[in-house]
Amino acid sequence: MIKKCLFPAAGYGTRFLPATKAVPKEMLPILTKPLLQYGVEEALSAGINNMAIVTGRGKRSIEDHFDNAFELESQLSGTEKEYLLEEIKKVIEKATFTYVRQQQILGLGHAILTGEPLIGNEPFAVILADDLCDCGANGVTSQMIEIYKKYKCSVIAIEEIPFTQIGKYGVISGDLIDGTSNTYRVTNMIEKPDSHDLMNFVEDRVDLNNVPSFNAIIGRYILTPDIFGILKKIKPGKNGEIQITDALLSQAKQGKVIGYKFKGKRFDCGSVKGYVEATNHFARSLENNNI
Ligand code: G1P
Repeated sequence: MIKKCLFPAAGYGTRFLPATKAVPKEMLPILTKPLLQYGVEEALSAGINNMAIVTGRGKRSIEDHFDNAFELESQLSGTEKEYLLEEIKKVIEKATFTYVRQQQILGLGHAILTGEPLIGNEPFAVILADDLCDCGANGVTSQMIEIYKKYKCSVIAIEEIPFTQIGKYGVISGDLIDGTSNTYRVTNMIEKPDSHDLMNFVEDRVDLNNVPSFNAIIGRYILTPDIFGILKKIKPGKNGEIQITDALLSQAKQGKVIGYKFKGKRFDCGSVKGYVEATNHFARSLENNNI
């Protein structure tokens, strides 16, 4: 039903300089695997085989990673190290990769619009690789596709985030429509609000100190293709960028966005703290598996 997944991967990753000066942030590893490969594997496990990657200048190693490396393979062939390439080779066999370059960094909405020629007129998933999720066997994208099948409109993954952190995220409000699956019909959304924006957003709940957390958007989306037409029309929003949150608000006003509190754990690998937490988490799982 959802056959394609878009990976915006054109950003500079400035928070990880100097590591990201010549290495794309999506290629930073958690243990031995680049962040983007985790995302691609999540898409594959959701039954998606077509990976549409929006890259930019200096990101060529992404294409090389998801391609055969004949010299390396023949060097390792027949040695005890051969198994080290097995995991990535399976990914390359199962998935098809298409690429487009984003000429200018004008925001997440603009990156998604840049991917339109790779997606066409069908619903698609979006994975922001620096939001790394560990949901066990049932990945967050698989969970969201189940929600999409039911409501047939855009679906965004949400997580409760403390008030103090909320300026880093898109925030939603909405009505709980299914308590069992934790789904909301989104009625309003705002991108990275400051406390003034938030006051207007919550309206009646004036004392923000009494609102311990908000439902924030995390980097997983299922989008219906009409989003492209909306993205072409909207004006730059927060930080002068074309924001996917603003485009989704237009769908939400027609009742066509579902917020889904996914089951699993997310690591903000766009920050050094989250990156270290993810590394520790996956290192612990590895140790536990070896026992
Ligand atoms: C983007 C979105 C934001 C969302 C976040 C999740 O922001 O614009 O709404 O909450 O991803 O990671 P970014 O982190 O790319 O600045």
